[in-house]
Amino acid sequence: MIPNINYNNLKDSYLFAGIAKKTKAYLEANPGTHLYRMGIGDVSLPLCSAVIEELHRAVDDQAVKGTFHGYMPECGADFLRKAIADYYRGRKISLSDDEVFVSSGASDELGDILDIFGHDKTVMIMEPAYPAYVDANIIAGNRIIRLSAGEDNGFLPSPAEIPTEAWGKADLIYICSPNNPTGAVFSKTALQAWIDYANQTDAVIIFDAAYEAFIEEEAIPHSIYELTGARTCAVEICSLSKTAGFTGTRCGYTVIPHDLERGGMNLNKMWVRNRTTKTNGVSYIIQRGAAAVFTERGQQEIHENIKVYKENANVLMEALDAVGITYYGGKNAPYIWMKCPGGMGSWEFFDKLLNEIHVVGTPGEGFGSCGEGYFRFSTFGSPKDTVEAAKRLKALLENN
Ligand code: MLT
Repeated sequence: MIPNINYNNLKDSYLFAGIAKKTKAYLEANPGTHLYRMGIGDVSLPLCSAVIEELHRAVDDQAVKGTFHGYMPECGADFLRKAIADYYRGRKISLSDDEVFVSSGASDELGDILDIFGHDKTVMIMEPAYPAYVDANIIAGNRIIRLSAGEDNGFLPSPAEIPTEAWGKADLIYICSPNNPTGAVFSKTALQAWIDYANQTDAVIIFDAAYEAFIEEEAIPHSIYELTGARTCAVEICSLSKTAGFTGTRCGYTVIPHDLERGGMNLNKMWVRNRTTKTNGVSYIIQRGAAAVFTERGQQEIHENIKVYKENANVLMEALDAVGITYYGGKNAPYIWMKCPGGMGSWEFFDKLLNEIHVVGTPGEGFGSCGEGYFRFSTFGSPKDTVEAAKRLKALLENN
């Protein structure tokens, strides 16, 4: 028996696992060192009280015969599907509850969704990109067309940049806005161009909206369904990880409109079939906690936490401004994408920060080769650590 040989085409380790290994080795060699962790986008603030109270209530429900829940509906509890659909409807997006699927998080879903497309597809990925897009498609045995993003296109490639030989070839197109890792955001016009392209060429867009709650500017779309024609070409994947601090609690959602069909097959129905086969649903307790995020109180409390992360971003941006370093993001996104100083390579800069100032970030090269020469900071760290890290970074860059 030969297992999935596509695993041979993956890098040795997943980006964040590799960084975790490197930092662990550093700590073993330098015991007692405090590291300022601004690498993986993992939240540092606890869950808000609206969520915590609901989680406790749900635990109590499970202790009583009359309120106890066993298996949950595979596609999500009605109360949570409705709460999420209401959230969209509140932004004037018309969505029915059964177009929303509850998941255990966006990263799981971004790979799992490939099940309904088959495993011999061509996918277009705009790089630098969240590495799970690439890895999940390598595992699936899909062909990858990489579209480079850089300073010349504001890290936002347009369909006009697709090379002639690749035009119309992609079955799937991954778009992440606000973008991980660059923090770039698609305007309505720029996103519309991709929707028109997908509808024209029969492609499906996998729209990663995991960072929508960080958008500050009124004109930036939070959801692809704010635009015309998205219902016939896009799946939207979202997560409560960054929005509401669910990285360790795990809950997200996926939207598949009823209008989305390819080859005479209905993708919403296919995903129902997939979920009913492959999951027994997200736990009742977690779904109750997730529903609290969409209440008025929950929304207010999560935005208080987001404000703290935005203040972290301001602290870092001030440090970079003070030393004249070019950077992107930080405004509508929780990531800052900076240019490494003096033409340094991104892993070289990673080692320098780790060794000299004990700051951990993410090398741009980990997000694809066109990320070389850049470095990503997550703004999800503790405010105290971020202030100190920014101070150290500024001093290091001044003396460079
Ligand atoms: C990141 O740091 O890019 C994210 O935290 C990864 C993730 O969401 O899985």
